[in-house]
Amino acid sequence: MWQEIPEVAIGWTEMGELCCMEDTEEPPRSSISGQSGMGKTSLLNNLECQESHKFKWNGVNINDIKGDTQTRCLPWNPRRDMKFIKELARLREPTIPMSYVYLHPTIKTLKSNQIFYEDEVGFKVSFPFKKFILDPNIKGYNLNWGVSPKARKYMINLLEDEKGNELLDGILYKDNLEEIKDLIFGKDGIDGVIPKKMHDTLGNSIYHLIKDVWNRGILDKSTKINSTWTAIINGKKYVNSPWNICLLCGIASSMITKQARNQDWFAMWIKYLLEDIFEFSSSEEYQLLQGKNIIVRADEISQILNNDTTKEIVNKVIREGRTETVGFELSNQFFSDTPQSIITNLTHYFVFRTQSSKDIDFFTKEFKLNKTQINDLRNLKKFECYAFGEFIFYDMNGNRYSNDGKAIKIIKTKPPNAQNFWNKRWLEKVE
Ligand SMILES: Nc1ncnc2c1ncn2[C@@H]1O[C@H](COP(=O)(O)OP(=O)(O)OP(=O)(O)O)[C@@H](O)[C@H]1O
Ligand SMILES: [Mg+2]
Repeated sequence: MWQEIPEVAIGWTEMGELCCMEDTEEPPRSSISGQSGMGKTSLLNNLECQESHKFKWNGVNINDIKGDTQTRCLPWNPRRDMKFIKELARLREPTIPMSYVYLHPTIKTLKSNQIFYEDEVGFKVSFPFKKFILDPNIKGYNLNWGVSPKARKYMINLLEDEKGNELLDGILYKDNLEEIKDLIFGKDGIDGVIPKKMHDTLGNSIYHLIKDVWNRGILDKSTKINSTWTAIINGKKYVNSPWNICLLCGIASSMITKQARNQDWFAMWIKYLLEDIFEFSSSEEYQLLQGKNIIVRADEISQILNNDTTKEIVNKVIREGRTETVGFELSNQFFSDTPQSIITNLTHYFVFRTQSSKDIDFFTKEFKLNKTQINDLRNLKKFECYAFGEFIFYDMNGNRYSNDGKAIKIIKTKPPNAQNFWNKRWLEKVE
């Protein structure tokens, strides 16, 4: 094994100390902020590699505005990236790829060439129709999807009986809109689920809602893309959502939000994904097979949550659903754009060069920064950052000690162990 240092190494201080993070029972909730091109994604990638290899924590990434995760399934290239390989060697660390899969939420307009190595490491994933029908907050995602409490009751009737048992001739077993229409309105003298007197009002509005989402090409039923994956582990079969199956197998997954995040139902996806991970993290199967912390990572979170509705929904899901097994690592150009439910619970902060007075004021107050430190924040160079929170240091003589919560200036962040995406030229296949 290559674990010379058991902690996750972050980078070197001015005194030549190595700054590290410990394996903790409760996972950290870290924020990485600062201007473009200063090293946020590289730090995130570094944390991910080490947390995965050293701590065996599992990760789900919700990101990829820029395709940043696509090279993490590769080691550094000795012909091109020798300087990173050498920096790793200073710590006796190898360059080592991550087991990664890329999940693309399916939409009608998603083209094959936008998928990373389709059906090798890149896969389309669909949204379960059942989740859509049962979601109490459909209107929250899209104002055109307004449904009254009464309509909601009838929508549920399309799917299950009064006792909550799935109807075998219900909406989940209909293959096309025509059949759904017949289920709602009735056909050949057979009554539909919606009473006749309501056909023009409620019936129509429910049908239009379903037709709209059906035609967007996001649902498992309308796209014929499974919303679950199957894994066979030690002869036992597990069926679950794609990201949960990856968690169960210890494979990192990356939700590619590039195309989907601009869609008006995107909040629904993120809500489902987060709730699903929170729930799964404490499930018996995950606990038995992995039982390790899970880190949800989001690079450029404010661009992913690019409107107030999405941001508010995510905020609420995190506030209500947070569990002790799931940690967060987020990056943002502006720290203050982070959802409040995450800011409230942060344990670690990494701050790269920033000109944002609002952010600087926050850190100054929170960590009692002096004039030099405040000035530094505006002038940090590439791969330099401040770190706030609990860290472990190793000095040149190998002494190990804590930072006692004091602010740390890192003058060189450690490169990731897997390749960091940088330049489109490297890639054979990008849009
Ligand atoms: N694989 C690489 N090889 C060489 N240089 C790299 C590589 N990856 C990143 N860099 C350089 O390191 C710097 C930091 O990159 P990184 O992607 O971490 O920045 P960032 O803070 O995430 O920026 P952005 O806000 O643009 O995403 C950039 O200047 C980039 O050009
Ligand atoms: Mg970046």
